[in-house]
Amino acid sequence: MKNKLLKCGSISGRDIDKFKEFSLTPVDGSKIGSPLIKECPINIECKVRKVIEAGDHTLFIGEVVDLHYKKTKQSILIDKGGRKFIGVKID
Ligand SMILES: Cc1cc2nc3c(=O)[nH]c(=O)nc-3n(C[C@H](O)[C@H](O)[C@H](O)COP(=O)(O)O)c2cc1C
Repeated sequence: MKNKLLKCGSISGRDIDKFKEFSLTPVDGSKIGSPLIKECPINIECKVRKVIEAGDHTLFIGEVVDLHYKKTKQSILIDKGGRKFIGVKID
């Protein structure tokens, strides 16, 4: 998933369908209208509670309203920042 993640995070969904482009499968969530990603072992549904203009960025404060988790033997990718990742195994 690492390469797909980097590509998805580097281009905008305004112009292309990222699900189609990167062979990902949209799945209905339970609490919000945005799709979940079937290939991801963890999907977190959030509702936007506050929007703060912070100079050259906009900060969205979200409330977690549901969590979807699949057991996997593969490592979970954790973003360390600076396009670096670590893989963590969870039970
Ligand atoms: C590894 C990675 C981590 C990112 N983390 C963040 C983040 O924490 N906050 C953020 O606003 N954007 C982050 N981005 C940038 C967004 O993913 C990017 O702006 C977004 O995918 C643009 O797509 P959209 O226009 O369809 O929303 C990250 C990008 C990459 C590649």
